[in-house]
Amino acid sequence: TLELPNKESNQTPANVRHRKHRRGGRSSQGHGSGRCSGRESLDKALASFLNWQQSAEERAEAPSPSVYLSKRGNSIRQHQGTLQEGFVQYAANKYHVTDNPEGIINLGTSENKLCYDLLHARLTRPDMLYVEPSLLQYSDWTGRTFLREEVAKFLTHYCGSPKTLNADNVVVMNGCGSLFSCVAAVICDPKDAILIPTPFYGVITDDVDLYSDVKLFHVHLDCEVTIKDYRAFHLTVEKLEEGLTKAKQEVAVILMNPHNPLAEIYTPEEMIAFLEFAKRNDLHAIVDELYMLTVFDESVTFHSVLSLDSLPDPLRTHVMWGLSKDFAMSGIRAGTLYTENRELVEALAQLGCFHGIPGTVQHQVAQLLQDRAWIDNEFLPENRRRLKAAHSFLTGELRSMGIPFLDRPAALFVWADLREYLQESSFQEELNLWRCFLRHNVLLSCGQAFSCSTPGWFRIVFADQHLHLGGLSQHLYLLFILCKLYLFSV
Ligand SMILES: Cc1ncc(COP(=O)(O)O)c(C=O)c1O
Repeated sequence: TLELPNKESNQTPANVRHRKHRRGGRSSQGHGSGRCSGRESLDKALASFLNWQQSAEERAEAPSPSVYLSKRGNSIRQHQGTLQEGFVQYAANKYHVTDNPEGIINLGTSENKLCYDLLHARLTRPDMLYVEPSLLQYSDWTGRTFLREEVAKFLTHYCGSPKTLNADNVVVMNGCGSLFSCVAAVICDPKDAILIPTPFYGVITDDVDLYSDVKLFHVHLDCEVTIKDYRAFHLTVEKLEEGLTKAKQEVAVILMNPHNPLAEIYTPEEMIAFLEFAKRNDLHAIVDELYMLTVFDESVTFHSVLSLDSLPDPLRTHVMWGLSKDFAMSGIRAGTLYTENRELVEALAQLGCFHGIPGTVQHQVAQLLQDRAWIDNEFLPENRRRLKAAHSFLTGELRSMGIPFLDRPAALFVWADLREYLQESSFQEELNLWRCFLRHNVLLSCGQAFSCSTPGWFRIVFADQHLHLGGLSQHLYLLFILCKLYLFSV
């Protein structure tokens, strides 16, 4: 079965009947009555489910091997992430409030679309438009000195480093995806593996594998809360140790703080314990702090590992940060790595020529990072205020629909538990539900794209314009109702 409502092809809105929920869950009635646009739109939406002509699997079929490509080229070409079909459809049919109001709303890509006005105002100030000969010439492939110096100052301040960070320890590339790829290429050999707790931001699998044939070894975190595991998806040193005993050829561990997709913020004590685990086992620790300033509850403080008085294993600890999330600029392509390991910096410099950022963009990034008045007085407070409002809007909607989720005041998304809407606990059913949303023009990300061990979890990005979310409220509500109706149908 592919599309949820097509399971029984003779089903029509009129003959949808209720059946017992497989987990004896709630009835579909009584949720926010009056908010759905009524029986008519429900019928319309359900009928459009039934008109779904082409199977999504057909559309997602991988291309046949090309005679023009090597085996590696073919495997790269054929490689399709689980959710690729959604992004292909989205690219062809993007929502736009006036030009394409029926288009697909993208709540699947982790982007902050709340602050374009602030960024536009800052990026069009005269200091941004600057050209001098050196910016148009080849340069240091780890990033221009003026930019690495600004990054070092920026990280010293915003990570709360007790010592001044050194610009020579900074590498700048076109995004953290490139940094993952390059770091994996120089600390691992082909077929080596990197330990990573799941669920995790799944694109890292491709980042380390496509060029370098480095694999990730998953340490599965469980969603169930027990006496021992008082937090869902609780990461502990014991679990990392256990993962390591099962794994072979591990050379590194990836830690994310704040976490994608859980939005979890780990305490300094937890991070020290993870770093000590890495040290005990001679593992590099790649610490991804891409969302470090995207924490929007004043009562919660994020602590960077760079704020520690000393790192357990400084030569094997490498900290990533970039502009994609905290500065809502994923299109600028700027990622940074801080490492005290000079040999690693030298090796990365060799690969940097494939991953450089244009000189003029490096100038803009440096201007932005040094403008503390704008960052502290304009951008960060307003960005946090908008993120908080968007987060409470989405979580309010989820609460009113009775959908459980991890309530964390960080990152750009909410990790929501839609297990109740699966006909059975399987990843195929999870994909069916994901396709059901897509069919109705809402693109989400489902747990299997993050290697989540339990089917039914979805990541929902909330950092979209209020207008979208306003329209979305009814949209999502209708979809959840449809999913419920389907579950209850005979
Ligand atoms: C945790 C995490 N790391 C790395 C990346 C890649 O970021 P960049 O845009 O800098 O390549 C992302 C993007 O979503 C992310 O969420």
